Amino acid sequence: MPDRDGAADPPPDALGRVIAMVNDKGGVGKTSLVANLAGQLAAADYRCLLVDLNRQANLADDLGFRDDDRDDHGAGLLMSLVGRSALVPVPDVRPGLDVVPGGARLSDLVPLMVGRLQDEGRPAFLALAAALAPVAPDYDIVFVDCPPESTILTDLALAAARWVLMPTRSDVAGLLGMRLVSERFTLARELNPRLGLLGAVLFGTGSRSRAVHAEVRNAVERAFGGHSPLFDTAIRHAERTAQDARRLGKLAHELEREVAAQPAWWAALREGGTTGPRVSPTAAGVAEDYRDLAVELLTALRETEDATEAPGPDAIPEQRTATEVAP
Ligand SMILES: Nc1ncnc2c1ncn2[C@@H]1O[C@H](COP(=O)(O)OP(=O)(O)O)[C@@H](O)[C@H]1O
Ligand SMILES: [Mg+2]
Repeated sequence: MPDRDGAADPPPDALGRVIAMVNDKGGVGKTSLVANLAGQLAAADYRCLLVDLNRQANLADDLGFRDDDRDDHGAGLLMSLVGRSALVPVPDVRPGLDVVPGGARLSDLVPLMVGRLQDEGRPAFLALAAALAPVAPDYDIVFVDCPPESTILTDLALAAARWVLMPTRSDVAGLLGMRLVSERFTLARELNPRLGLLGAVLFGTGSRSRAVHAEVRNAVERAFGGHSPLFDTAIRHAERTAQDARRLGKLAHELEREVAAQPAWWAALREGGTTGPRVSPTAAGVAEDYRDLAVELLTALRETEDATEAPGPDAIPEQRTATEVAP
C-alpha cells in the first residue's frame, strides 16, 4: 500500500515517463490516441500502462474489455486515489499493455477531492502521483487519458505527469480547448515544476494541406507562449475505421491485419452469399499514422531526456530504433 505520508513528494524519476493526454474539449482524439499509441508501442516490446480518468471509459471500448470481468468501472482507481489500497493495473489487456480502468465509479471522486482540497489545499492533487509512483517504474511509458471539462480530474493528471500531449482538431473549439489547457498547465507547474509540453497532435484531419498545419502550429504557439511543438504526423480522418474500432474493440493496427486477412468481397459473396459487416481498408492508413506518431513520440522523449538529464538505467533503450515500432 502506498505510503500516504509520502504523498506530497513522490520520487520524481518514477514518474518521468508519465504522459497526460489532455484537451478540455471532448472528441479531439485523446482516447483513440492513448489506446493506439500504447498498442503500437506494446507491440514493439515497450511496457505500457494506461490510466483511464474518464467516467465514460471509452478506452474499455477501444480495447474491447467493456463490462467483462476485467472492467471494475474505476473502483480500483478510486480506492487508490483515496489511499485505501495500492493501484493494481489489469495485466496484459494486450501483451505488454496494462490498464487501470475508468468508469462510473469515478463519479464519487469529484466530491471526495473537493473535501480533500478543503482540508489539504492544492497538494491534494498529488493523489494520482502518489498512487502511480510505486507502479510507474515497471513501465517504459505511462499514458493518462484525461476527461473533457473536468478540472479536478485533469489537475490530478497534470500533477502526476512529466509530460502533456495535447491532441486537437483543426476547428476553433479544439483550439480553444487547448488554450484552456495552457492555463491549467501554468497552475499545475506550481505543484509539479517538472511538467512539460511534449507536443500537440493534429487529429482526425481530412487535410494534408500545409496551410491547415501552419494554422494549428500558430494556435499552439499562441496558447503556449511562443513554443510550438506540433508533431509532424497528423492522424487522418477515417470515420469507418473509427466505427470499426469501437464496434470490434480493436486498435487500428489490429484492424489493419484483419483487412489483410479478410477475403475479397466478391469471394465472400460467392462462398456464402452474404458479406456481413466488413472491416474498412482505411485502417491501414490510420495504423500507419499512429505508427509514425509513436516513432516521433519516442524520438521526442529521447531528445528531451538526453538534453535535460543523464539517462538513468531505465532510459529508453537506444537499440529500439524508430523503425522497430512494428505493426
Ligand atoms: N481517425 C479518425 N477519424 C475520424 N474520427 C475518428 C478517428 N478516430 C477516432 N474517431 C472518432 O472521434 C471521436 C472522438 O474520439 P475520442 O478518441 O473518443 O476523443 P476524446 O477522447 O478526445 O473525446 C470518436 O467518435 C471516435 O470514434
Ligand atoms: Mg476520451
